[in-house]
Amino acid sequence: MKTMKNIDSFTHVRGESLFVDDLQLRQDALIGLCFDSPKAHGKITSVDYSKAEALDGVVKIFTYKDVLGENQIGGIIPDEPLWAEDEVHFWGQPIAFIIAKTEAIAKKARALITIEIEELPVITTAKEAKEKKSFINAPRSFKLGDSKNTFANCEYVFEGETFSNGQEHLYLETQGCYAVPLENGTIKLTSSTQGPTQVQKTAAKVLGIPMHKIEVDVIRLGGGFGGKEDQATPWAVMTAVAVQHLNKPVKYMLNRHDDLRMTGKRHPYSSFYKIGLTKDLKISAFEVEFLQNSGAAADLSPAIAERTLFHATNSYFIPNVTTTVFSCKTNLPPNTAFRGFGGPQGMFVIESAIADAANKIGINKKQIQEANLLSENDTFSYGQIATKVEAKNTWFTAKDTFNLEKTEQEIANFNAENKHYKKGISLMPITFGISFTNTQMNHARALVHIYQDGSVGVSTGAVEMGQSVNTKMLQVAQTVLGISTSKVKLETTNTTRVANTSPSAASSTADLNGKAVEMACTSLLERLTKVAANILSSEEKNISFKEDFVFVADKKSTLTWEAVIMQAMAERVALSENAHYATPKIHFDKSIEKGHPFAYHVYGTAITTVTVDCLRGTYEIDAVKIIHDFGKSMNLGIDIGQIEGALAQGIGWMTMEEIAYNTNGKLLSNALSTYKVPDIFSAPKTIETIPLETEGHDLAIQKSKAVGEPPLMYGIGAYFAIQEAVKAFNPNYTLKFHAPFTPEKVLMGLYEE
Ligand code: MTE
Ligand code: HPA
Ligand code: MOS
Repeated sequence: MKTMKNIDSFTHVRGESLFVDDLQLRQDALIGLCFDSPKAHGKITSVDYSKAEALDGVVKIFTYKDVLGENQIGGIIPDEPLWAEDEVHFWGQPIAFIIAKTEAIAKKARALITIEIEELPVITTAKEAKEKKSFINAPRSFKLGDSKNTFANCEYVFEGETFSNGQEHLYLETQGCYAVPLENGTIKLTSSTQGPTQVQKTAAKVLGIPMHKIEVDVIRLGGGFGGKEDQATPWAVMTAVAVQHLNKPVKYMLNRHDDLRMTGKRHPYSSFYKIGLTKDLKISAFEVEFLQNSGAAADLSPAIAERTLFHATNSYFIPNVTTTVFSCKTNLPPNTAFRGFGGPQGMFVIESAIADAANKIGINKKQIQEANLLSENDTFSYGQIATKVEAKNTWFTAKDTFNLEKTEQEIANFNAENKHYKKGISLMPITFGISFTNTQMNHARALVHIYQDGSVGVSTGAVEMGQSVNTKMLQVAQTVLGISTSKVKLETTNTTRVANTSPSAASSTADLNGKAVEMACTSLLERLTKVAANILSSEEKNISFKEDFVFVADKKSTLTWEAVIMQAMAERVALSENAHYATPKIHFDKSIEKGHPFAYHVYGTAITTVTVDCLRGTYEIDAVKIIHDFGKSMNLGIDIGQIEGALAQGIGWMTMEEIAYNTNGKLLSNALSTYKVPDIFSAPKTIETIPLETEGHDLAIQKSKAVGEPPLMYGIGAYFAIQEAVKAFNPNYTLKFHAPFTPEKVLMGLYEE
C-alpha cells in the first residue's frame, strides 16, 4: 500500500512538532493554576485566600468577582459558570484561578487555600437522578410506526437493562492555553481546542469585549477525541481573563491529575429495552429508554443524547421504534463529546437486546442480526430514507472473505478440546451518519493564497488532532491545482484567517473543509487557466494543470506553474481565494423529529474472536477482521490508521476502561494505575481491514467517506465475543450487559451458579 504519509510524521518522530507547551514564552509570562472544589455538591460558606495571596511569587487569584462580562460558559444551555459562585456542583469544579511566577509557587499557593462547604446531597448515577427528577432539559423521543401495539403480535418479546460506563479521553497532550496581550486590548490565545470559534466566542462573552479582540490560534492537538470540542474552552477563557487584568502573558497547562479530575468524559448510560420479534426473527418492535448521565451541566449532552437516538437501531431496519432519552443531571463533571458522540451508547443497547433475545430463543446472535440488516430505501426512525446502503454488502463480504464458517468450526473444536480456555466470536455491523446532527453547523471555509513564487498556503477551519486532516487538505489542494506536495503548506487554524467555524468534530472535518478547499482552488484554477491559455495561444478548454506544468490537450507543454503565476501577478490577477461550503440537501425538523440529517452513512462489519483464560478471567483479543466502506479512500494509509486507533479505543471502552467515582462524587480512577487503557499487549493480535469496493459518495471529499468515529463501534463486538466464550465455559451464566466487561466481571460470570 503506497499512500501519502501524514505530513507531520517527520517532525512528530523527531519531537519537533509544536504543541502549546512547546511555545517559547515571553519573558514576563506568568503561570496559571485552578483551585477546584473538594466536594461534589454544596454551598460555599467561606474561602480564605489570604495565606495563598501572601505567598511570595503569587501575582493574583481570580474568582467570579473579577469577570467583567458574563460568568457563563454554557454553549447549548447557559447553565455553567466559569468559576463557581455560591454553590459547587461537582468535585473538581473550578472556583478560583491562581496566577504565579512559577508553577511550583502556584501549587504551593493552592495548598494554602482553605474552603468551607455546607454539603448537599450528591447524585452520581443517572438512575438516581431520574428518580429525583433531576434533568438537564426535557426528554427527546424518536418514533416510527407503532411499537406499543406491535408487541402483542410478536412471537417473542424480551425486556432488559444495560449499562455502559464512561470513558476518559486520555489525549496525550492535556488541556491548555497560552494567552498573550497584543495592543489595544486584543488577546491572542494559542489553545489546544477542537473549537477555536467556541473559545473566541466564549472568551469575548466572559471578558465583555467584541469577538474581534480575541484571536485564537491552534497549531495542532496531541489528541482531542471529542474531549476538546467543548472542554478546551474554560482554561483558555481563564487565561484570557487573567491577561485582561494583568496585561501580561499567562500560560495554563493542566497536569494529568488535574485534567482527569476536572474534565468530563464519555457519558455513562443506563438503558431499558423491550424487543419484539416475529417467528422468522424479524425485529418488528423496539423500545428503549436511555438514561444519560450528563454530569452537573449541559455541555454538549443534549446533542449527544440526540445522536444516541439516531443510532439506536444501528444497522437494522425496524418498522416500529420508540426511543426516548433523558439527560440526567448528576454531580459529576459535565460529561462531553467522545468519539461516536452518543452513537456507541445507543448501538450497545440494540446489540445487547439482540444477544438477549438470541440467548433466550436458543439461537446464534448473528441469525437475528442477519435477518434484520438495512436494505435500500428502508426508513430510519428519524425519517431519512437509506440509500446506497452497504450494510448487507459488508456483512456478507465479511462472512465470505474471512471464511466465517471455517473459523466457527475451529472455535467449536478448540472449545471441545480445551477445558480452561474458551474462545468466542461475534459479528458487529455498524451504520453511522455523517454530518453534525444540528444542520446549521454543517459549513466550513478555506482561504487559499498562491504566493508569487508559486508556493501555496492553505488555511481552513479544520483542526489537526492526529487524524491527519491537514494531509487530506493538502491532497485536495494539490490534486485540484496539479502541483507537487512540497508546493503546498497547511497553515495553523486561526480565527482571523477563517472565522465562525464549527468545531472539528462529527467526523465531518475533512468533508466540510475539504469541499471548501476544493472550491477555492477550483476558482483560482479558472483564473490561471485563462492566463495559461493566453500565454500558449490555446483555448481554455484544452488547458490543464498537472505535475507542476501546463498541459495542452493532455500534452505536457514547457510552461511551468511558476511561470503562469508570475504572469498572473503581472496581469494583476487575484491569487487568493476564500470559499464557503455548506452541505446541500440536509435538513431536520425537531418539532416532528423527522428529516434528512445526514449527508450519507458509513457502513462496515467486524468479526472479532477472543480467547478467555477461564482460571484467571483474563482474555486476549485474537483477531478483528473488518470489511469497511471507505467509499473511495483518498488516503488508505491514514484511513486504516483511523480504523485501528478507533477500534482499540472502542475495545478499551467495552472491556477494560473502568471509570469509578465514589458515592461522594470523587473520582477514584484518577491515575493510569487504576484506570486501564489498551496498550500494545492488549491490542488485538491481528487487525485486518479490507476496503469494500464501492462508488463512494458525492458529498464525501473526493468520494472518500468520513472515517474518524465509525470504526470505534467495531469495538462493541469484543464485548459479545467475550460473552460467547463465558457462555461456552459456564452454561449457568446469565447474560449481563454491563460494560466494561473487565476480567473481574468475566471471572464472576465464569463461576456464577
Ligand atoms: N484521531 C486522532 N489521532 N486523534 C483524535 O483526537 N479524534 C476523533 C477522530 N480521530 C481523533 C482522531 C474524533 S472524536 C473525531 S470527531 C474525528 O477524528 C475528527 O476529525 P475528522 O472530522 O477529520 O475525522
Ligand atoms: N457530532 C459531533 N459533535 C457535535 C455534533 C455532532 O453531531 N453536534 C454538535 N457537536
Ligand atoms: Mo468527535 S466526538 O465529534 O470530536
